[in-house]
Amino acid sequence: MDLKQYVTIVEDWPKPGIRFKDITTLMDNGEAYKYATDQIVAYAKEKDIDLVVGPEARGFIIGCPVAYALGVGFAPVRKEGKLPRETVKVDYGLEYGKDVLTIHKDAIKPGQRVLITDDLLATGGTIEATIKLVEELGGVVAGIAFLIELTYLDGRSKLDNHDILTLMEF
Ligand code: PRP
Repeated sequence: MDLKQYVTIVEDWPKPGIRFKDITTLMDNGEAYKYATDQIVAYAKEKDIDLVVGPEARGFIIGCPVAYALGVGFAPVRKEGKLPRETVKVDYGLEYGKDVLTIHKDAIKPGQRVLITDDLLATGGTIEATIKLVEELGGVVAGIAFLIELTYLDGRSKLDNHDILTLMEF
C-alpha cells in the first residue's frame, strides 16, 4: 500500500514556511491505519519488545495500537505538568519551538526492551529527548518506529546508532 497518498500536506502551518504533514487523513482510513500499524508490529516482533513508549500527542496514536497488538504496555511521555506522580524530565528542541518532556519514574523497569514510536522524525529533538528518558530509567531502546521521516532535516543523526523504522520519507 502506498501510504503517502493518505498524508495531507498543509502549506504554511503552524507557521509560514512549514509544510505540515497531516496524518489524520491516514488515521481516519481504517485500512491505511491498520496497514501502517501492522508494519510497525512486524518490526517490533523481531525486537522482543517489553514496552512501547511514545511522546504526546501523536506518538500515542502510533504506539498504543502497536502495544495492544503485541500484548505489552504503553508508557506515555508528556509535556511538563501533565503527569501526576514523580517524573524524570529533559529539555528538548523542536522543529519550531522548545519544551520539556517527562515520564513517570516507575514507568520502565531496568533492562526492559523499549520500542519508541512517533508519527514523524523531523529534527530528531523529540525522540532524542525520549531516548534520554528511557535510558535514564534503565530501559534499553530496542527500536524506534515512525510513520514519516523528513530526510532533509537529518534527525536520524541525533539518534545515535539506534535501529530505526520509517514507513515514509519526504
Ligand atoms: C511533532 C511530531 C513529533 C515531533 C517531531 O510533535 O508529532 O513528535 O514534532 O519533531 P522533531 O523531530 O523536530 O522533534 P509536537 O511537538 O508538535 O507535539 P504534538 O504531537 O503534541 O502536537
